[in-house]
Amino acid sequence: MKIQYDAERRMFHLQSGEMSYVLGFTQDGRLLHLYWGKRLSQDISLYPLAEEILCAPYEQTAMVKDLLWEYEVPVMEAGDFQAPLLRAIQHNGVRSLRLRYAGHEIRENELIVTLQDQVYPFRVQAHYRCWGDLPLVSKWLTIENHGQESIALDAAKSACFHVPKGHNYRLTHQAGAWGAEYGKQQLMLTQARTVLQNNRLTCTSTNQTPFFALDQEGTATETMGEVFFGVLHWSGNFNITVEKEYGNRVSVTGGVADEDFQYQLKPGETLETPLFTGGYSNAGFGRMSEIFYDWQLDHLIPRGKKGDKAHAVRPVIYNSWYPYAFDVREDNCLALLNECEKLGVELFVIDDGWMSGRVDSRAGLGDWQADKQRFPRGLAPIAEGCHDKGMLFGLWVEPEMVNPDSDLYRAHPDWVLHDPTRNITTMRNQYILNLARDDIRDWAIAWLDQLIEEYQLDYLKWDMNRYAAEIGWPDAPMEEQKSLSYRYTRNLLQIWTHLNEKYPDLLLENCASGGGRADFGMVPLADRINRSDNADPVDVMILHEDFSMLFIPKTAGGAGNIAPAAHHIHNRPTPLPFRIQWGMTGSMSIGINLLTASEEEKEMLKAGIERFKMLRPDLQDSYVYRIASAREHPYAVFQYVRRDRKAFTLFAFAHGMRCWDLSMPRFRMQGLIPDGIYQCEDGKEMTGEMLMNFGLSLRLKGDFDCRMSVWNFKE
Ligand code: DGJ
Repeated sequence: MKIQYDAERRMFHLQSGEMSYVLGFTQDGRLLHLYWGKRLSQDISLYPLAEEILCAPYEQTAMVKDLLWEYEVPVMEAGDFQAPLLRAIQHNGVRSLRLRYAGHEIRENELIVTLQDQVYPFRVQAHYRCWGDLPLVSKWLTIENHGQESIALDAAKSACFHVPKGHNYRLTHQAGAWGAEYGKQQLMLTQARTVLQNNRLTCTSTNQTPFFALDQEGTATETMGEVFFGVLHWSGNFNITVEKEYGNRVSVTGGVADEDFQYQLKPGETLETPLFTGGYSNAGFGRMSEIFYDWQLDHLIPRGKKGDKAHAVRPVIYNSWYPYAFDVREDNCLALLNECEKLGVELFVIDDGWMSGRVDSRAGLGDWQADKQRFPRGLAPIAEGCHDKGMLFGLWVEPEMVNPDSDLYRAHPDWVLHDPTRNITTMRNQYILNLARDDIRDWAIAWLDQLIEEYQLDYLKWDMNRYAAEIGWPDAPMEEQKSLSYRYTRNLLQIWTHLNEKYPDLLLENCASGGGRADFGMVPLADRINRSDNADPVDVMILHEDFSMLFIPKTAGGAGNIAPAAHHIHNRPTPLPFRIQWGMTGSMSIGINLLTASEEEKEMLKAGIERFKMLRPDLQDSYVYRIASAREHPYAVFQYVRRDRKAFTLFAFAHGMRCWDLSMPRFRMQGLIPDGIYQCEDGKEMTGEMLMNFGLSLRLKGDFDCRMSVWNFKE
């Protein structure tokens, strides 16, 4: 990674991995985007000046410069009509900004360009950060008010990316719903703004993952073609506006949503926007995923006290939710613990239902003490039981919520989001606490600290189970009302940051009704993502394919990715071996009733856990290649390649095969060392080249057939 500055040409060149990113400023100080794509040679002294790239001095092009200029921080200058990053209202009502270069600083992995308004004491720092040698650049802004009056920010987005102009682009994004998160969608852009967004406040990714990818003419595949992609590091309301203007000019502006947003920037105050990271792949979507994985494993996911947490394997979990729902008691938990020990489970999690009065969804949220009737001695016997058996202990919480039937709500009815003149809508019988309030954030921190310390928790599952309706905060001043959503998410992330800092070795599960917060705001704060509440193993054939585009498999969780025989989504009975094999593809969690399971089932589980533990160091440090998609076939094939490329595991799952499907193609492997020799567990040997060109045959039949084969490098 290198950041160069050419003073004569007023240009910055960021080189990172196979990518270059070039920006510069004009003589009058406008910050322009100049290049994003394949790595350029070191020397940019031959690179044309910003004005030359734009074909003509800008005075001569005043009428047409909207066809030419590409701003790094678009704010609707004359002729620039693209979605603005910033909208600021000065005390006298002036709403335009004129930002000009006022200096820069280059740090080890970061460039900071300062922009100053021509008239007002309003300053913006545009940040550019690289990550090791990965083809990624994170961009964000710090917005500073150096004046004596407040400035109302009507939009405060993070960054704008421009892709090479003159091409038709296909947009790939992920959209879905509860139980069907991350659904891959693709469309050719037309001259329009396509807005990927969330306005549900308490989730990010239930309906739209804050992610985009663009490829020219829609020609990129899993293995070939240039892909420009990006993710937003925010876990709340967001916009990613993909804009195509006349002349095939495509840009992507991302950040905190500007719908129902306004932030009063007080004199002397600075607002930092979340990061918006762009990346470049020159080898299709498969390479894009490799970049995401390296980034998470080597830079983003929590590192723990000794720094090795990111690379540590994730424990095998037993979770009470699917088999017991709210019916958790001391007796069944202790009995389950004994069974878990026999199977080799490493972490026991009591899910929802342990709190005072929580016998169903109508009560208990907000009163974070163990239910006295069902846990007469508190949770200590379970926590100690786990620790005595050498197992970890974890607990479920939903800190943002409260039931109307709770002591907390009775004591603090003003703590919930509400409008004074309206009924408060319940969803799942719960209200939302106004986390935008700093006192409520601090209250949550205090009881979480107490809970973690009292039970020596090793694992905390943070859940969230409803979306916002009345986003009101009657006690806040009028001009602060529209900052609520922003403050809510900021405080949420602050609590997570606190937990990470105070308990660096605590394992944290990011759950929001399943995968509602699978986003890069949460990635650096969580060790596990609840991929979805949908653990039906046939639906998982698609869910896992899409999840694995962005997220590493060791974080792929759920209350039980070894789900009950008929998972409630479809009530479709599926055989245990099929479910166990799914468990191996992610962070294994068992969600079946071990107190009623047959001896045969328990034997199968035990063997599955044993095998998983042997393979887990490789599987959890692997790239995942999507070899065959269940969208196109009655089967799904995934290849997990250890990051040093010296071991791989092939997983195949079939559902609904027909006679002629038996003539399946040979599957060509990816990402191997061509002249290396790989040996399969059954003794068969093949070179990487053969595996990647000739391929491997699989014979899958009927319903719920599944295979896995493990290959190791022969030194
Ligand atoms: C939704 C989560 O996704 C589930 O795993 C479970 O924890 C329930 N909530 C509990 O209410």
